Amino acid sequence: MTSEVAALAAEAHSLTAEALAAIAAAADVGALTAARPYLLGRGSPLTGLRRRLGALAPEDRPVAGRALSGALATVETRYDARLEELRAAERRRRLEAERLDLTELPEPPPVGRLHVITQTLQRLEDTFCAMGYTVAEGPEIETEWHNFGALNFPPGHPARDMYDTLYVDHGPPASTLLRTHTSPVQVRVMQSRPPPLYVVAPGRCYRQDTADATHMPVFHQIEGLVIDDGITLGDLAGAIETFTTAYFGAGFTSRLRPSYFPFTEPSAEFDVQRPDGTWLELGGCGVVHPSVLEVCGVDSERWSGFAFGFGIDRLAMLRYGIGDLRDLWTNDVRFLEQF
Ligand code: PHE
Repeated sequence: MTSEVAALAAEAHSLTAEALAAIAAAADVGALTAARPYLLGRGSPLTGLRRRLGALAPEDRPVAGRALSGALATVETRYDARLEELRAAERRRRLEAERLDLTELPEPPPVGRLHVITQTLQRLEDTFCAMGYTVAEGPEIETEWHNFGALNFPPGHPARDMYDTLYVDHGPPASTLLRTHTSPVQVRVMQSRPPPLYVVAPGRCYRQDTADATHMPVFHQIEGLVIDDGITLGDLAGAIETFTTAYFGAGFTSRLRPSYFPFTEPSAEFDVQRPDGTWLELGGCGVVHPSVLEVCGVDSERWSGFAFGFGIDRLAMLRYGIGDLRDLWTNDVRFLEQF
């Protein structure tokens, strides 16, 4: 091999190495194809070496020619392979970016709901509103006077013992308490507006009680108060019966049983009879005692009225088949979302 051939071969070798390095370094299809003219085109340094073949001795030309062709073929093969590799990578990237999982079900946003007691309370309100009543509210922390005194329970009256009162450490001893029933709202309504009155007052009440399946120290009642011209016990019985069929349904009926409350005279308990004949004790009621009317500023010669009150929690238990009152308070979503 002459020295010219050797020089040509050495140059071809280093240009090939340069070209292969450039191919390997091309980061994407665009960069690689842009480099093609320089790597393999007519004007590329490697192709340019051909022009020097003519200057070689005739017997050297085939050897040198084959060496150049081999170098170009190596570069071209590597170029094609790299091009395919970069194209495949780009396809993969595009597919990944455009990927749509058609089996994916988006989670619906969680939607809250009203507590089953609130639902029950609202249904009761709706029923009474349809009967012409309006809704009133009173405080859960009450004065002893509104909860007991104004309702004909003088201090030391034995009827106070029926209520396991929770007193609040505020003011003189035993002057402030958590209301034991919704009846103090009767007092507040009569003091704040003149008759005629057709009002229901739902809300929380408190009694000292150990929690079990059917007792909770916090519970709910709904109070009813009607004051109008010539209201009698008959109106009370009619109102209870109208409510019973409106709320429970056509197959239900009600009855009053004599009872005692200091703030009504006469007083009664009322029960609801289910279509299967069984009775459910619902609450207390009666004709508003004249001295309660007077203490609240209502002329008992001119007006008369009735009141009733019953527990909501056991009503909800019955209606929804709830076995344990405590479940209403533990806030387990799996329990609450059934209603
Ligand atoms: N407040 C009484 C109770 O909780 C129920 C009642 C209300 C009785 C209204 C008569 C009139 O026991």
